[in-house]
Amino acid sequence: MLPFVYHNPTKLYFGEGQLKQLTEEAVKHGKRVLLVYGGGSIKRNGLYEQVQARLAEAGSEIIELAGVEPNPRITTVRRGAELCREHSIDWVLAVGGGSTIDCAKAIAAAARYDGDFWDVVIKKGKVEAALPLGTVLTLAATGSEMNAGSVISNEQTLEKHGWGSPYVSPAFSILDPVYTASAPKDHTVYGMVDMMSHVLEQYFHHDSRTPIQDGFSESILRAVIETAPLLVEDLTNVSYRETILYAGTMALNGTLSMGVQGDWANHDMEHAVSAVYDIPHGGGLAILFPNWMSYVLDENIGRFKQFAINVFGVEADGRSDREIAEDGIGRLRRFWTSIGAPSKLSDYGIDESRIDEMAEKATGGGKRGHFRKLDKADVAAIYRMSL
Ligand code: NZQ
Ligand code: ZN
Repeated sequence: MLPFVYHNPTKLYFGEGQLKQLTEEAVKHGKRVLLVYGGGSIKRNGLYEQVQARLAEAGSEIIELAGVEPNPRITTVRRGAELCREHSIDWVLAVGGGSTIDCAKAIAAAARYDGDFWDVVIKKGKVEAALPLGTVLTLAATGSEMNAGSVISNEQTLEKHGWGSPYVSPAFSILDPVYTASAPKDHTVYGMVDMMSHVLEQYFHHDSRTPIQDGFSESILRAVIETAPLLVEDLTNVSYRETILYAGTMALNGTLSMGVQGDWANHDMEHAVSAVYDIPHGGGLAILFPNWMSYVLDENIGRFKQFAINVFGVEADGRSDREIAEDGIGRLRRFWTSIGAPSKLSDYGIDESRIDEMAEKATGGGKRGHFRKLDKADVAAIYRMSL
């Protein structure tokens, strides 16, 4: 294991009825709040009214930023930061999915940043302060509710990058599965692919003595594999939603990366695809990840064999390690397809014409990934496998 420091400051309120905690949190963080949300799902499922009621109890003054887009844009971040300055906002409340939370993180930091915030996203500037942030999550997917990361797109330059700062770890996050029950099937599936991908990004490393991390990872993957088919047939089932909501948070709140070096090349590759084509993140991952697995298999066949046996229950049946490992990769592909995820870039109308450009964006002229370091030619090859 690698030496590590673990510090996660987010206070998590999990389970049915936890929205009532919002009142006390609102009192704690100040009077003037910027309420950030997306394209209207929270108005349709009744959450907006309930948040308003809790904030009214706290005596909050509310300024709103509505319409955060999936794959949130730097222009929206700039608009939000402007609102914070104009109205002397004390804290920011994100109500929505990962896009809304990521945008709110950037706004909270941009409000205290002197300069154009895109510089921070591309790592030319550094966050030294941020307004406090709280979240009410409505989609199990990114883990943004309990981590310090955020992913922002630039619609002018067609770039999409992750950035992070301890200053934007949410002070609190409220996760009530009831409010995730209105999520449509496609985004529910993308979210489950995303959380599984987060586990996999941290699972594929070369350290041979990580039994505790392996157990955590394999158990999250098995729980999602068991629950996802039930949930897609019964989208309003709160008990299934609860399992998936918990899985999504645990997949990317720092727990699984303790003592290990994650890979993350699939995220770099996917962000380049969604930067250029504005596709859903989980959809892109479902296409790329199994092809990456086949591409890097020879780096450590034993790791893939363990994945096949411990996650998908593959039986050895006298087969070679490679055959068992390949069986596991095939099962992951078939599992994602079975719940309705895409499997080819052409499912989104993407052809080979911009592969070179995407591979350049994904690698930034260097190499990406740790399980195997991929250069631009490797990434282009994986995109071609994915057509
Ligand atoms: O905008 P609204 O109207 O709210 O609708 C959203 C949106 O259209 C809808 N939705 C969410 N909750 C709903 C609901 N509809 C009905 N009922 C509900 N309860 O779902 C759509 C997608 O929402 P979005 O927030 O875009 O999805 P997700 O949570 O998957 O976030 C994706 C973004 O997060 C980034 C991705 O790259 C992408 O930009 N990521 C952030 C990470 C992080 N901060 O740690 C890590 C991830 O790897 C990821 O890269
Ligand atoms: Zn992701």
